[in-house]
Amino acid sequence: MTYDDEAEPETSVVFSGARGAARRASGGQNASPNGQVLTRPRPEAAAVSAQAARAALGGLTAPRKTLPPSLFYDEEGCRLFYEITKLPEYYLTRTEFRLLETTAPEVTSLLPAGATLVEYGASDETKAEILLRQTNPAGEPDGEPNGDSVFRSYIPIDVAAPALRAIRDRLADRRPGLTVIPVTADFMRPIALPARRSESALMGFFPGSTIGNLEPGPAVAFLRRARLTLHPEGWPRSEAAHPVRFLLGFDTCRDPARLLPAYDDPAGVTARFNRNLLARLNREAGGTFDPDDFAHRAVWNEAESRIEMHLVSRSARTVMLAGQKIGFARGETIHTENSYKYAPERMRAMVEAAGWSRQRAWTDPDGLFALWLLA
Ligand code: TRP
Repeated sequence: MTYDDEAEPETSVVFSGARGAARRASGGQNASPNGQVLTRPRPEAAAVSAQAARAALGGLTAPRKTLPPSLFYDEEGCRLFYEITKLPEYYLTRTEFRLLETTAPEVTSLLPAGATLVEYGASDETKAEILLRQTNPAGEPDGEPNGDSVFRSYIPIDVAAPALRAIRDRLADRRPGLTVIPVTADFMRPIALPARRSESALMGFFPGSTIGNLEPGPAVAFLRRARLTLHPEGWPRSEAAHPVRFLLGFDTCRDPARLLPAYDDPAGVTARFNRNLLARLNREAGGTFDPDDFAHRAVWNEAESRIEMHLVSRSARTVMLAGQKIGFARGETIHTENSYKYAPERMRAMVEAAGWSRQRAWTDPDGLFALWLLA
């Protein structure tokens, strides 16, 4: 975890093993004429980490094959996911944006001016900005550097240092009065907030229904960790003096007729997004997959209340990954992702198990998406 993303190395050093295989496969590192090793300038274009390659191998050699979903989001994966969010069938992003627009004034009216917003998994600032531009309806310009905005500071947390740098640069232009403190960290591990001027209130923010991509147990553990992170030293502090809130977005639609096209669109963008996992393993971890030999399949699992993403091998084959052989039977699937959809009662039990209580709840007119303010 690093607080200042400048501290993150611009290049990743490639060693042996899976990373060595990745280097050979991608030509990612070259020796200059004087024997110096030149590394690629952009970390997102570098090899998958040795740890990720090990996780991929572990998943593909298990009796039921899986791949770690974190591998989805390389440069190409991020581009394809952005395309998904614009698809007519993928109603989720659009619905959440609209809901945020209509509820943001009410959410921020519950906070004193001079608050800090902490976003978990902030791949960009577009959702946060809806909150960041809200001003206190009391209308009292308080002389703070972000004018009379409710939020004075923004702490975006993400594993991708380049994305955080881009966020900071864009906000420096657009909101010069806002203090932006990026934190490069994996939110599935404990996080300590960076040192900063004391704020009037803290609000965590976890949009994008990312909570649905976690298994229910880890989702509760995440919410519990976030509660600890946001209640800093001196906890429990006086609630009145320093309110701590958490704004959580999640999917509530459990209708397969609407969900399946959202995860298996006719234009095939989601299929390309799913197959990019294999293309990425080819590029970066010495894989020999033919991505077109794997069919994209979305399944609604009613018992688990989740959409499952699979890649189904169209024939029996053997594939190499980082020097190891992986056998596939015809029709065998790689389970690549889950997206849980929560009935409100179930989510309520989860947030309460994590120590939060639901203060307010909003939903869109069609009841597809929920935004909850937790205290
Ligand atoms: N958070 C998104 C979701 O679960 C991620 C996503 C959308 C996704 N489409 C996907 C993940 C297809 C894997 C495959 O809705």
